[in-house]
Amino acid sequence: MLDTRRGKEQMNVLLLEGIHESAVKNFKVAGFKNIEISKNAMPEDELAKKIKEVDVLGIRSHTQVPERVLNSANNLLVVGCFCIGTNQVDLNAAMNRGVPVFNGPYSNTRSVAEMVLGEIIMLLRGVPEKNAKAHQGVWVKGASNSYEVRHKKLGIVGYGNIGTQLSYMAESVGMHVYFYDILPKLPHGNAMSVPSLKKLLAECDVITLHVPETPETRNMIGEEQIAAMKPGSILINAARGSVVDINALASALKRGHLAGAAIDVFPDEPKSDNEAFTSPLQQFDNVILTPHIGGNTREAQEHIGEEVSEKLVNFVSYGSTMLAVNFPQVSLFSPPGLHRVLHIHKNIPGVLSAINNVFSENHVNIAGQYLQTNTDIGYVVTDVEKDYSIGALEKLRNAPGTIRMRVIS
Ligand code: NAI
Repeated sequence: MLDTRRGKEQMNVLLLEGIHESAVKNFKVAGFKNIEISKNAMPEDELAKKIKEVDVLGIRSHTQVPERVLNSANNLLVVGCFCIGTNQVDLNAAMNRGVPVFNGPYSNTRSVAEMVLGEIIMLLRGVPEKNAKAHQGVWVKGASNSYEVRHKKLGIVGYGNIGTQLSYMAESVGMHVYFYDILPKLPHGNAMSVPSLKKLLAECDVITLHVPETPETRNMIGEEQIAAMKPGSILINAARGSVVDINALASALKRGHLAGAAIDVFPDEPKSDNEAFTSPLQQFDNVILTPHIGGNTREAQEHIGEEVSEKLVNFVSYGSTMLAVNFPQVSLFSPPGLHRVLHIHKNIPGVLSAINNVFSENHVNIAGQYLQTNTDIGYVVTDVEKDYSIGALEKLRNAPGTIRMRVIS
């Protein structure tokens, strides 16, 4: 159990895997002095030793943080995944130790949307095929199968962050945008919602997928759905490899039912640049294949550095857990008046009244209190108007179900 009044200048920040310097800048501006950075991921055994002295840990997707590593942490307050995925961290184990985990889900939205728009333009123009022929010394100058994007119908499946960003950009080049989402979504610009996937597939010249990986989206575009697409239309998948049945797509391309495709994500992706990549789509010149780079730009990396470090700084400075992936969400963005007590406990009856009894018995006036719970834990933040005795602190620490406690002064 942690009980600390250590200031940020005494805390140790460890940033692995070449996290962008925008994060380092944010930590320095916030008052952190001890920031260690490494370009590489850290093997589990090494991290288990290193983490003993770490207060704030920043990783990307290659460093694993299982329960065993968390068990070795003495001071760990918070973990930042400077990427989208968080399954490299044992989220439940972190939560049960009072450690919120944050990620950066929105920083590469623009990068994905830009790449998809570029692919739509290139595919409607037949450029991938003409490019492949030109590389082989073949001159194909005709205008057949070459179209402008203006007035073409774009069908977006999944109208979330990327879908809506793309919606604006596609309209700006004159496309008519339609979308299908399982949730009711406010149409942006002139975009129009379509009541079923089937209708969207049948209506549009280009279908682009921007749904998450869920049991419902697994193979949501298979043989039947591809057959329902307009002859000569185009399919783009920059969502997740599991969403499209790649063999069904290959056979539709072979039959000439689709005019082309752009695929950025695959059911089986190489683990590193050293592993070979194979796909049944490699035989088609009218298919753009990219190695899961939709969100990989310098700008996205910089934004992720800013976005995640800001969340970590806000947690350490104010106790805010907004947008944590494994924690009750308390939104606090102002410094405490005098003292802020952060108390993380098991979600069992009677904890809040036990905490408030301690304050009341010690004549400590509560200026503000914020409580959120999930099924497992509770997080209560209390701003108090005056300092309390060590005895009061001791009693708070002994409140039933306490996981950890921290004081920000
Ligand atoms: P988001 O969560 O903002 O939007 C997803 C949308 O899909 C939501 O509106 C949701 O209601 C909708 N949806 C969920 N299940 C659906 C279903 N069965 N049918 C129709 N709609 C459904 O997500 P965001 O940020 O827009 O990302 C979308 C996808 O892009 C994700 O799969 C993400 O993993 C992927 N992605 C790929 C990248 C790349 O490098 N290629 C980079 C970033 C994200």
